[in-house]
Parts: sequence; structure tokens; C-alpha cells
Amino acid sequence: MKKLKISTDFDVYQSLNDLPSDEFELMQQAIEARKQAYAPYSKFSVGAAILLANGEVITGSNQENAAYPSGLCAERVAIFYAGAKYPDVQILKIAISATATQERTVLPIPPCGACRQSIMEYEFKQKFPIEIIFMGATGNVAKSASMANLLPLGFDNSYLLSDI
Ligand code: THU
Repeated sequence: MKKLKISTDFDVYQSLNDLPSDEFELMQQAIEARKQAYAPYSKFSVGAAILLANGEVITGSNQENAAYPSGLCAERVAIFYAGAKYPDVQILKIAISATATQERTVLPIPPCGACRQSIMEYEFKQKFPIEIIFMGATGNVAKSASMANLLPLGFDNSYLLSDI
């Protein structure tokens, strides 16, 4: 038996204003997208903005449903649209802002497991890291250089191949 240790690291900025200007702009678009969330059930709003290598920004917000599991997270609304509209364009970064609607969330809110897995698929497909920048409504901003960094032991399509 041997023990393995997996470590991860990310940057924490004290506030939105400390981000490099392109990432500040991207986060502003995530915040604007968050305001379009349809979240009458959880009252928790999330916005995501994706920067593509062609300069396009794709945004999304969480879309809930009375049949709860039919709703979708902001990150997946955005990444699936990016994948559908620009299948051959590299995804560079995703900025995410999330907050409870009653009270402003001050902690950086990381993407849920299903969103990490979904974003990871595109990172794996394009063989290039996707930077993940996330925050609450205000407060610290966290930045991970890749999704692999936030999803250790991620499942990818190499496991589906029968000859390994
Ligand atoms: N949500 C997201 O949009 N992204 C996440 O990564 C976590 C959760 C949404 C789903 C649901 O509409 C609400 O936040 C509460 O879970």
C-alpha cells in the first residue's frame, strides 16, 4: 500500500479591482449575466462569461424549472452554447459570479461538480487549459489556471477506450 497526495493551488485576489483588466471586463459580463438568472426556486443567481480565442464572449445564467432537475447551471448554459456555436474555437477563460438574491454572497463560489466535469470535457478536447475565475457578488476573487486543477482525478474519454 502507498499513499498518494494530490495538491491544487489557485490565486486569490482581494477584490474585483485587482484583476487584470481583461479579466475584470469578463467578470463584469458574468455579473451582468447573473442579473438575468431565472432562479425563482433557489433564489440563488449565477452568471458566467466565457472568453473565446476569436474574441467572442458567451454568457449564461442559471435557468431553473418547476421540475427541479430540469434546470441548468449558468456555467453549463454558457459552455454548451460556446460548444454549439463555435465548436472549433478555443475556450480561454470563464468568469463566474454567484450570489444568494436576499443577501450578497462575499465568498468565491466555485462551480459545482457537474459543471467542473462539463468544462473539463472541453479542456480535454482542446488540449489547452481553461482558466476559471470565480467570486460571489463581491469580495475575494479566486482564479485557477485550469479546470484540471479544480477537478483532480477527473473522468475523461481516455477511460472509454477499450484497448487501455
Ligand atoms: N448553480 C449554478 O448555476 N452553478 C453552479 O455551479 C452551482 C449552482 C445554480 C443551480 C441552481 O439554479 C442554483 O444555482 C442553486 O443551486
